[in-house]
Amino acid sequence: AAPAARTATGNPAEGDPADRAQKSSYLTTAQGGRLTTTDHSLRAGDRGPILLQDHHLREKITHFDHERVPERVVHARGAAAHGVFRANGAAKTICRAGVFDEGKETEVFVRFSTVLGSRGSADTVRDTRGFAVKFYTDEGTWDLVGNNIPVFFIQDAIKFPDIVHAAKPHPDREIPQAQSAHDTFWDFVTLHTEATAHTMWNMSDRGIPRSYRMMEGFGIHTFRVSNDKGETSLVKFHWKPRLGVHSLVWEEAQIANGMDPDFHRRDLADAIESGAYPEWDLGVQVLPDSKDETFEGIDLLDPTKIVPEELAPVQIIGTMKLTKNPTNYFAETEQVAFHPGHLAPGIDVTADPLLQGRLFSYLDTQISRLGGPNFAQLPINRPHAPVNDMHRDGMHQTAVHSGVAPYKPNSLDGGCPFFAGSDDAALIDVPVHVEGQATREKPASFEDHYSQPRMFYRSLSPVEQEHTASAYAFELAKCYEPVIRERAVKVLGNVDQGLAESVAAKLGLPAPDPVDLDPVTESPALSQVGREWPTDG
Ligand code: HEM
Repeated sequence: AAPAARTATGNPAEGDPADRAQKSSYLTTAQGGRLTTTDHSLRAGDRGPILLQDHHLREKITHFDHERVPERVVHARGAAAHGVFRANGAAKTICRAGVFDEGKETEVFVRFSTVLGSRGSADTVRDTRGFAVKFYTDEGTWDLVGNNIPVFFIQDAIKFPDIVHAAKPHPDREIPQAQSAHDTFWDFVTLHTEATAHTMWNMSDRGIPRSYRMMEGFGIHTFRVSNDKGETSLVKFHWKPRLGVHSLVWEEAQIANGMDPDFHRRDLADAIESGAYPEWDLGVQVLPDSKDETFEGIDLLDPTKIVPEELAPVQIIGTMKLTKNPTNYFAETEQVAFHPGHLAPGIDVTADPLLQGRLFSYLDTQISRLGGPNFAQLPINRPHAPVNDMHRDGMHQTAVHSGVAPYKPNSLDGGCPFFAGSDDAALIDVPVHVEGQATREKPASFEDHYSQPRMFYRSLSPVEQEHTASAYAFELAKCYEPVIRERAVKVLGNVDQGLAESVAAKLGLPAPDPVDLDPVTESPALSQVGREWPTDG
């Protein structure tokens, strides 16, 4: 029969190209030429070599050869789902973003991840988990790119390559896969003691979640929001799982990893498929936008610090429900591109030096990971708000732009020649006073590396404390260099003498000398800590 036109009515191949071939009774080349076979190469005789002129063979193998894109440099292993966020209106007094209008429903895509393992690594490792939410708001996409731990390892983005190099598998043997102990990781976090709080969260039961559905999420940084009157507040975002927070103990995690390295990924997909839709409440801690950007003495620009909920309760502003698994892992989970700079009107960044660096890094990495500057055109990344940009051309451009004058003002293309600006604009609306001499110094408050890990450790139950001490000892026992183990125990002595003694005993090391504590802050004096070894951390 004569080949039907590509889109003719009744052609079984009509429809979404994504599944056309699987449903059709015939196959074509990428150019639409029909094929006689896709199973046999063209050969010079049935025992002869394959002929270079077999275009289908070359096209098929060439396309296959390029099926992989580079995995994310961090957070390579992930699992994702679609859902909806419903606002309860409580945020409207502080934030004008339409996503927070009472009753407003906004589609979301959420990607959970481990940080350090490669794409094929196991799920139930001891590691931080990514918790990245893309809100497809009417006013442009807003990404809340957070983690399941409310503090971060470092305070300045310039250290991010260093911590990641230290925590990724050793360059010589490419082991271990994830953040189990090894010398470079422990070397880094004991020389850069700002990492003490995050490392302690990792060593606690929080380091091995039971399920993605049972994790909290945190925006970590302080964000600046503004309301309709232009009044500003500082906020910290929290996701609270309706199922509660649950962890695996180490032995369970080992068994789960051995039996099913896809344990978390399967759990999420199975739950959604069976209709047990996971839900999280989104909450904010609201803090006054004070000149010094501190709250109760806590520096809000320091991403290694939390504000305890006793001091600033989390106020619930909406609920997210995940209701649909991705149809295609590559197209959605792999190609999604989050960015902390994707903001909606009324939600703004602060000068947290870690956040500031992130604002550069994500777009930069995605240009290389997703092959050029046009990845916002990929279906999963397409905003649900109209896009009116003047970006043109570039690798993988799929839009066919009309007109001749992609600049404003212009007098050639008809319509409105001018760029009028918008009252509802996203990005840098809040006039923030900025001054100061260029300096690489950091605020003195950034030197306090121990008060918060101490608070965290002392908030744990005795069983959780024992798990944490055991995790430190288990992981540190894997370090080859005794000096690193000894230094780690000293660092813990700055946090809690009992913890340091417990870990030291498990490692067969002498207990460290107790550190003199300031009677008011119960912290070691700043001059006393972290200066026994060469570091600028
Ligand atoms: C990816 C969170 C700090 C660079 C991610 C992802 C999350 C995340 C959740 C995975 C996104 C996804 O699922 O696709 C965080 C948090 C941070 C932090 C909560 C601190 C509070 C940083 C810093 C840098 C950085 C300081 C660099 C200076 C990256 C890069 C990726 C990434 C390059 C890969 C992005 C991609 O390929 O699409 N981060 N991150 N992150 N992060 Fe971060």
